[in-house]
Amino acid sequence: MIELCDVEKIFGSVRAVDKISFTIERGEVFGLLGKNGAGKTTTIKMLTLQLKPTAGEIFFEGRPTLGNEIFVKSLLGLVPQHLNFDQDLTVEENLELHARLHHLSKAERRERIDELLKFVELEKVRRSNVRELSGGMKRRLLIIRALIHRPKILLLDEPTVALDPQVRRKIWELLTDLKSRGITIVLTTHYIEEAEFLCDRVAILNRGRLVALDTTENLCAGRPLEEIFIALTK
Ligand SMILES: Nc1ncnc2c1ncn2[C@@H]1O[C@H](COP(=O)(O)OP(=O)(O)OP(=O)(O)O)[C@@H](O)[C@H]1O
Ligand SMILES: [Mg+2]
Repeated sequence: MIELCDVEKIFGSVRAVDKISFTIERGEVFGLLGKNGAGKTTTIKMLTLQLKPTAGEIFFEGRPTLGNEIFVKSLLGLVPQHLNFDQDLTVEENLELHARLHHLSKAERRERIDELLKFVELEKVRRSNVRELSGGMKRRLLIIRALIHRPKILLLDEPTVALDPQVRRKIWELLTDLKSRGITIVLTTHYIEEAEFLCDRVAILNRGRLVALDTTENLCAGRPLEEIFIALTK
């Protein structure tokens, strides 16, 4: 379980995240929605210890992040908003590098990389340079890279941005499969239908504030989620 208590992030004069509090249950798919600049990425970065909150606290399985950084990092896998591969390395080399950062043994690295490449059907391009892959292939690689160390919690910042509908569906299938394996998933998205399809609950941020948090069914009460979203984020 992840618990955010009055979490705030201020950049100079910008209050990017304004005292948000909520919990994310183990095994759920939790969506963070909000317009550009609403504070989604800042929240993900605080959850993944890339940014320190200006105020407030985050707990993972009851433990505060402060002083438990190694434990927290071992729980987490991150799919960032922007592709950050070494494009001159091959698919395999990128995964290998990441696996080494997580101290997997040589045998574990080989087994895990084979298994994950198969899982997202990228075995055929394992020796291609990342720059040669299509956008959809790069996104799938970004996801399996985050899964190398078998994290219990996967955080994805706009995992299907700019993908065609077929590839987006494939990623939805992949995330549904991960959920069925008990992984907790936190994702941000601008695609309302993605949130409706995948998420058990969604939080809507507006100018750093939490303006709604519920299941999509409860939020909508028969109206389209997009309509509710627009009304809440004016
Ligand atoms: N490192 C930074 N320094 C200063 N301001 C920042 C920094 N990072 C984010 N901000 C500001 O914080 C606010 C929230 O940004 P954030 O990236 O969290 O939004 P977002 O919801 O992820 O938006 P998008 O949908 O465009 O990705 C914005 O006003 C942004 O300009
Ligand atoms: Mg963002």
